[in-house]
Amino acid sequence: MNTRYRKLIIAGNWKMNKTPADARDFFKKLGPLGRKGGRFEAVLCVPAIDIPAAVSASKEMRYSIGAQNMHQAPSGAYTGEISADMLKNAGVKYVIIGHSERREYFGETDFTVSEKVKAALDAGLRPIMCVGESLQHRQDGLEKPHIAYQVAAGLSQVSEEQISRVVIAYEPIWAIGTGNTATAQDAQDICCHIRSILREKYGARKARAVSILYGGSMNPENAADLIAMEDIDGGLIGGASLTAEKFRKIIEEAAAVNS
Ligand code: 13P
Repeated sequence: MNTRYRKLIIAGNWKMNKTPADARDFFKKLGPLGRKGGRFEAVLCVPAIDIPAAVSASKEMRYSIGAQNMHQAPSGAYTGEISADMLKNAGVKYVIIGHSERREYFGETDFTVSEKVKAALDAGLRPIMCVGESLQHRQDGLEKPHIAYQVAAGLSQVSEEQISRVVIAYEPIWAIGTGNTATAQDAQDICCHIRSILREKYGARKARAVSILYGGSMNPENAADLIAMEDIDGGLIGGASLTAEKFRKIIEEAAAVNS
């Protein structure tokens, strides 16, 4: 983390968990974020149906609300889908794009990821674009080229003016929901690699302003070590974001590293 150039972001991803009533209850337990400095942001990415409840329950508490997916088209005959504009209108600031679960179970490709990232930016949302290698890729030593490809493809429609509004989350698939967190050094190596790809495409000044998060079994015990690394600017947290106490603890750990 280097808050001289970029924001520290702690983001929760509830995935398909919690009703609107659960969301209200969660924010009551979580309590206000309080003052953590201008370059710190805490985000909860909630199921679409929970967005109104989360936006209203977190009012005056200084959290940002995110969605977990969106459609790339501005409107039209796409039954069951939600557009970037609809999210923006509902009070959403961030949207996760290209999570490995969406790539695996819903057929998202690097191309659809690039379309969604562009549509999110055009609508004034901040995309959290996810990349990450499988266990097989890692065992074969192919994690870096795989990540390089995903980053380049996902950002293929992002201009120099827009890149600083993009957040990238490095989530190794083998670390998601498994308890096998990447070591801080392994996660740093990949996040640094991602920044070097950004540097090649957008230049050093733009690259150092992009927040790159780590995700995959992050919890209150390992968060501080990961976030202390130069190129890891926060976390995208699944399981541990479902419990208000755990999520708050991660926020406190991150704020302590940042102080
Ligand atoms: P876990 O924190 O449960 O491993 O999930 C990570 C994740 O997929 C966040 O998007």
